[in-house]
This record gives sequence, C-alpha cells and structure tokens, in this order.
Amino acid sequence: MDVKLKINDVEVSAQKGEYLLDVARKAGFEIPSLCHHEAVRPIGSCRVCLVEVVAGGKTSLTTSCNYVVEPGIEVTTDSELIHKMRAVNLELLLARAPGARRVRDLAARYGVSRPRFAPVDDNWLPNCILCELCVRVCEHQGHSALSTLGRGDQKKIGLPFNRPAESCVGCGACYSVCPTECILMKETRTNRTIWGQTFDFVPCKECGAPVITEKHRDFAIKNQELPENYYDLCEACKQAAASKRFASVAW
Ligand code: SF4
Ligand code: SF4
Ligand code: FES
Repeated sequence: MDVKLKINDVEVSAQKGEYLLDVARKAGFEIPSLCHHEAVRPIGSCRVCLVEVVAGGKTSLTTSCNYVVEPGIEVTTDSELIHKMRAVNLELLLARAPGARRVRDLAARYGVSRPRFAPVDDNWLPNCILCELCVRVCEHQGHSALSTLGRGDQKKIGLPFNRPAESCVGCGACYSVCPTECILMKETRTNRTIWGQTFDFVPCKECGAPVITEKHRDFAIKNQELPENYYDLCEACKQAAASKRFASVAW
C-alpha cells in the first residue's frame, strides 16, 4: 500500500496505479456504475460513477472508474452536485435505453422516471448505451470480435463489416457483461447462437450437460495450454469425480 488518500473524510490506502472506483468500493463506499468491470480497461463512458476530487487545491467532478488515485487527494462520493449530475447522465442513458432494467432502476434511485430528452431510435441494437463493455471484454479474452462502428451519432456496436466474425468463439462473455441486456443470445441444450453464428456445445461426458462451445474449448486449450480433456466434464461432474477420488483415498 503506497498511496494514502481520503474518501468521505476517512483515510484509505491504495496501491499505486489503482482506480478510484475500485479503491472506494474495497473500502466500503458505494458508487454506482454501468460501464465498469474491474478486469478490463476503463473508458469512463456512462458517467454515473462521478465523484468530487480535491487535488492540489482544485476541486473537480470526475468519473472515478478511470481516475488513478494520487497521494493526498480528498474524495467525496455523494453530494447534492454529484447527485444532480448523476441524475442528468442517467436521464440521457434512459433516453437511449428505456427498456434496460438496470438503467431504469438506477435512474429511479436518482429520481428520474422519464427522461426529458427525446428517445434515441436505435434499430441497430435497441437499448445499447454504447458503453463498449462488450468490446473491451471480448478484447480482454483475446478474441477482439466486436468493435465500435461509425462515429458521433452514427456510432454503433457490432461486428466489423457486419459479417460473422471468424474470431468469435461464442463464449457469451459480451452477453454476460452487457449492463442493458441488449445483446441477443439463444441457447438450446446443444448449441448457442450469438452475433449471427451458431456454436455447438461440448456435452459433458458424464451427464450430457453443455460445458462450453467447441470453438471456445479449442481456443482455450490452445492458448492456455490446458490438457486436451480439460472440458470433458461439466463443473458439477468434475466436483463429483473429485469427491469420489477423495473418498476412495485410504487414510
Ligand atoms: S461471444 Fe463472441 S463477440 Fe461475444 S465475447 Fe465471446 S468471442 Fe467476443
Ligand atoms: S451492447 Fe451492451 S455492453 Fe455493448 S456497448 Fe451496448 S450496452 Fe454496452
Ligand atoms: S462506471 Fe465510470 S463512467 Fe461508467
């Protein structure tokens, strides 16, 4: 621990290079977020994690997810101004994503039930708030199948050239992290369809439950140097097999 700062008048220690949102949450302070995931690089897109920071005698309102902590800063995680600015940002997000439960719930906590702004008509990916979390997670996993397309008010999220991406392995990570649940994914017991491609599942050799897509398995085994049989069993059957082995050990 080599950075000392204050959050809401409480002295907190952090590692050099840590982001303020992560530090504050670890210390027990609540800050809302939509576009944040601790595993991927932050881009400060949704702006609901705003906090006030006093650094070098200057006070500023800043997004905490992409603010690297500095020694001696004094942070306030809630105030009238912060509340007001978060509410404005949530109003903008709600106009883009009126059908997103998480955005609606968060907006309601800030007193916003209906945005004053005109709804954004997005036939491409309805309810997408362009937070790029899906793009960053996909890139972090080593696939880089998604990207931002266009600029300004033409900006969209999708597959380059709008064609099924060769590098997509159907892992579903983008679907899992999307804060507005706007990515379409369909699953049966044998396959998963996402971003215009259908991926067959590897069935568990014991119980037949889907383990992982075949393409994702091949990618993981090759890139993480895992044994060929690593995905032969689902987690439940792996654990059952481990317990059986443990029980059969002579004591
Ligand atoms: S399902 Fe495809 S696009 Fe989504 S994170 Fe996995 S590889 Fe990327
Ligand atoms: S699809 Fe979801 S995760 Fe991706 S940019 Fe849109 S809202 Fe964010
Ligand atoms: S969580 Fe910080 S800008 Fe979205």
